[in-house]
Amino acid sequence: MPSLRSINRYGKPVVFIACLIPLLVLLLRVFEIGSFRLGPNPIEDIQDTLGEWGLRFLLLTLALTPLRYAIGQAWPVQFRRMLGLFAFTYIALHFLNYLVLDHRFDLDRIIEDVIERPFITIGFVALLAMIPLAVTSTSGWRRKLGRNWVTLHKLVYGIAAAGCWHFFMQVKKDLTEPLIYVAILVVLLGVRVVHDARRSAAAT
Ligand code: HEM
Repeated sequence: MPSLRSINRYGKPVVFIACLIPLLVLLLRVFEIGSFRLGPNPIEDIQDTLGEWGLRFLLLTLALTPLRYAIGQAWPVQFRRMLGLFAFTYIALHFLNYLVLDHRFDLDRIIEDVIERPFITIGFVALLAMIPLAVTSTSGWRRKLGRNWVTLHKLVYGIAAAGCWHFFMQVKKDLTEPLIYVAILVVLLGVRVVHDARRSAAAT
């Protein structure tokens, strides 16, 4: 099992840089460096790329606890906070792209969108729900909130489900991709539920 020291010294910087790669590739595409290019609808392309990576990081964050159960070692959870904060960052940028490039700060149109387009309503609620999780992700907040911290952070399952639903609703034809995300989420949730059920059965 890797020591806490080697995780902090090597593991975390490597994972941090790896998490920045999708953003870096997106920037290369935005500034048309080398052969990197956005598609025919650049704003939509940026929106989709950031949204998909946000959802991938959310699911990766949720995968760490099942990985811990599978290998019987605690080190994967050392990366949970970093991956969760990257999920939040990509989704916040996804929203910023919508606010600035897509809607040019037209707040009336945005409010109308949030009220009248259910897939935007769901995305918006999910984004709002992520804020308290990002704010309380520090060890100081964890200590201060005690058991309530664990309860609060279970919200991440609801947020991932809302993210999948939001994706599902805006897909026009091929549902394969959102269905893959839904299947991954169901498996991750299933592993958690079975593990918790076994643990409480063993305790009684
Ligand atoms: C947890 C929060 C969110 C997640 C996980 C998420 C994720 C996604 C994903 C995966 C897509 C589809 C990408 C694709 O088609 O390849 C998407 C599309 C989109 N999202 Fe979000 N999103 C979130 C919140 C929001 C918010 C807050 C807004 C704006 C208020 C928003 C606006 C949009 C729009 C407009 C599209 C469609 C772009 C297009 O026309 O193709 N999303 N989102």
